[in-house]
Amino acid sequence: MVRVFNASYTSMYHVTSQAPPLQEQASPMEKQLLLLCLLLPAPVTPHEPGPLPAAGFGLCLGIGSYYIWNRISPGERCKDLGQVDVTALQEDLEKRVFGQHLAKGITLRGLSGFVKNDNPKKALAMSFHGPTGTGKNYISQIIARHLYPEGMKSRYVHQFVTTLHFPHVQNFEMYKVQLQQWIRGNVTACKRSVFIFDEVDKMHPELIDAIKPYLDYYEHIEGVDYRKAIFIFLSNAAGEIINKLALDFWKAGKVREDIKLSDVEHHLSLSAFNMKDSGFWHSSLIDRNLIDFYVPFLPLEQQHVKMCIKREIMDGGIIVDDELISKVANDMTYYPKDEKVFSVKGCKVVSTKLNFYLLPTMNGTVDRPRNLSVFSNLFNFVSWVFWGICSSISSFFYFVFWGISSLFLNIFYLISWVFWGICSLFLNLFYLVRWVFWVTCAIFLNIHFVYENYVLVALCFSEFR
Ligand SMILES: Nc1ncnc2c1ncn2[C@@H]1O[C@H](COP(=O)(O)OP(=O)(O)OP(=O)(O)O)[C@@H](O)[C@H]1O
Ligand SMILES: [Mg+2]
Repeated sequence: MVRVFNASYTSMYHVTSQAPPLQEQASPMEKQLLLLCLLLPAPVTPHEPGPLPAAGFGLCLGIGSYYIWNRISPGERCKDLGQVDVTALQEDLEKRVFGQHLAKGITLRGLSGFVKNDNPKKALAMSFHGPTGTGKNYISQIIARHLYPEGMKSRYVHQFVTTLHFPHVQNFEMYKVQLQQWIRGNVTACKRSVFIFDEVDKMHPELIDAIKPYLDYYEHIEGVDYRKAIFIFLSNAAGEIINKLALDFWKAGKVREDIKLSDVEHHLSLSAFNMKDSGFWHSSLIDRNLIDFYVPFLPLEQQHVKMCIKREIMDGGIIVDDELISKVANDMTYYPKDEKVFSVKGCKVVSTKLNFYLLPTMNGTVDRPRNLSVFSNLFNFVSWVFWGICSSISSFFYFVFWGISSLFLNIFYLISWVFWGICSLFLNLFYLVRWVFWVTCAIFLNIHFVYENYVLVALCFSEFR
């Protein structure tokens, strides 16, 4: 009886065809040949990573990382406002604002109390009053920067300047509608929105009254909650009164820092309301006590002007020069005429005056102290030399490193190709040998099979006969 078995025809790599059935009677040598055939590996084609999939993967990785970074990065978002760093705000005010102890104190207290309160009863309304150039815009800019990192450029900080945004008094009805829509839209988008109204004293009273509902104690108006918004009004209203108060203090030989809010506050609201030229005239904002803080800005003395000049110089990265500071300070106008105590324009024209002194004159020379000029030129020269040395060293190292690494990479690449060539040659040779063996085995086995069957049949026939 003939038993047939199927050899399991698997190899480490891949099977290319089905194995033919083999006879059990195969000799040991035949079996060894068969085993050798099976063990011979199939030819392998080495794969190199294609440049296109790699680029695609890199692109996806880049886009993914950008998206994730955008999600987790501390970018400007409306809800971030609650975490105002009051200490940082205080430091900034102390460092940058001069001669305004009242304004700094009131703003800081008012603002920190408001932002810490999660459930305020009404929107915060502060009214900055004072003569020109005393820091009203300046402090509101600092506040904006501490509320939102992008400051005045933030999409949550909105500034209206009467002469710019509401220039034609006769159009106040139209402005009123637009302003209300603007406030409503922005507070709907972000409850912690900041609105700064500059030159309020030039604003139409009805336009001021249009803002009134948003400052009142309503939980919401037409479904919008305005109680977390901040409104800052800037004006020169009551500037005269503040000037007079400061001058009286000076004449009485008192320290400026002794002026208390109580000395000014009452005058402030009254005068702002009573001044016929002021926009607050007939406006019910003050009448209805909707302004939370009246912030007086005192006129600046020469010492404060000097501080402004010094800060301006330092911000410009120029070496501080006392002679230059005195020159610029003396170029400003002061009042009263005889005493020359307060600066007429505060610190407003400081940067312009300073630039004038720093600008090259008609002869092409710089009109500023010689030592300053020498120092700055020397500094420039040294920095250029340093830059030149650093950049040449870095370029040298860059090229050397690039050259060496690319040389090694190319050598490695060449070796890998040679290696790959040799390997694939050997593998293909093995593959060929394997097939030759397999074919030889198969022929041999089949001949053997036919012969044995022939003998068997012949024996049967002879037996039968
Ligand atoms: N108290 C101050 N401390 C430091 N710098 C000041 C001060 N006041 C004004 N400055 C400087 O003067 C510039 C002009 O001041 P700012 O625009 O704030 O004046 P203002 O009070 O708004 O005047 P105005 O009433 O004319 O609008 C500021 O950008 C700032 O550089
Ligand atoms: Mg201003």
